[in-house]
Amino acid sequence: METSTNTVDIQKAATSKIENTDFNNLAFGQVFTDHMMICDYKDGAWQTPKIRPYGPLEMDPSAKVFHYGQAVFEGMKAFKDEKDQIWLFRPEDNFDRINKSSERLAIPAFPKEHFFAGMEELLKLEKDWIKKGFGNSLYIRPFVIATEAGVSAAPAKEYKFMIICSPAQAYYSGEVRVQFSEKYSRAADGGVGFAKAAGNYAAQFYPTNLAKEEGFQQIIWTDASSHDYLEEAGTMNIFFRIGDKLITAPTNDRILDGITRKSIISLAKEFNIDLEVRRVSVKEIVDAAKNGELKEIFGSGTATVVNPIVGFGHGGEKYDLPKLEDSYAGFFKDKLTKIQYNQAEDKFNWRYLVK
Ligand code: COI
Repeated sequence: METSTNTVDIQKAATSKIENTDFNNLAFGQVFTDHMMICDYKDGAWQTPKIRPYGPLEMDPSAKVFHYGQAVFEGMKAFKDEKDQIWLFRPEDNFDRINKSSERLAIPAFPKEHFFAGMEELLKLEKDWIKKGFGNSLYIRPFVIATEAGVSAAPAKEYKFMIICSPAQAYYSGEVRVQFSEKYSRAADGGVGFAKAAGNYAAQFYPTNLAKEEGFQQIIWTDASSHDYLEEAGTMNIFFRIGDKLITAPTNDRILDGITRKSIISLAKEFNIDLEVRRVSVKEIVDAAKNGELKEIFGSGTATVVNPIVGFGHGGEKYDLPKLEDSYAGFFKDKLTKIQYNQAEDKFNWRYLVK
């Protein structure tokens, strides 16, 4: 049964948690706002999106998401400018990507009208949770889970598309050191690496814990077949600067097509920064670190924006990166955040006003 596509059924929360939230002391993704968006898929169609008070879900223990991991998600942010206007950053790209991820996990595509209507109604309700000022944002987490009961290993016939929101500041609170992976892999050819599939992240936790025991916060994943090429970090795409040349790996079916990554590529072109999108070998980065030509490594992602890496480990050796006054990481973070907070011209049409 096809239901109306441009209405959202809203039930407001009786009380708000906002007064008890310390906005100056937010650990990433720990506090959630008062409402959530839910849209059910059943009888072959997505139903009317609903906004409900934030709270636990009741699900059958045999729901397929618990057994087969049929789950995908997105990461987005809303920003408030000095005039209290709320902006999203390239939300159409998130919409396209969640449906690409869904397709790979045999989840039905979500309609665009529902995505935007549900999200915008939710953001309007939660506008006080979005604080002004660089570094403050509302992290938005759309996700889809297979809710149909039954442990037969086949795609579900019922799903929930949901959006929850969390006020955010920095993703990493301290310095980030990365280890180049020599044994474990994040993704393989023909797999789900390009999708924001929940299981991609679960599979990283164990190797990342091992790396943490050795003093690293993240792993840079290498290609699964040779471990000779650097591909992506756990929560970020990754850039290298050798001399003044910026290098990042091309996307493929193992690498997430990061929205911050492609924004940095566009900005690098705009500002005539020497950029190469090509395979990056472990050897060239280790050699460049040894001969002093490796100036920076930084990660990019919605949650973290642009995150400098202070050092890396490989083959039992640890390498430190120089502290630069004029880093590319700082340059791109400044350019991106000014666009996101409506403080700079938006030449690429990336900003989206929530009306
Ligand atoms: C994001 O940057 O939004 C992500 O989805 C990464 C996440 C694991 C925090």
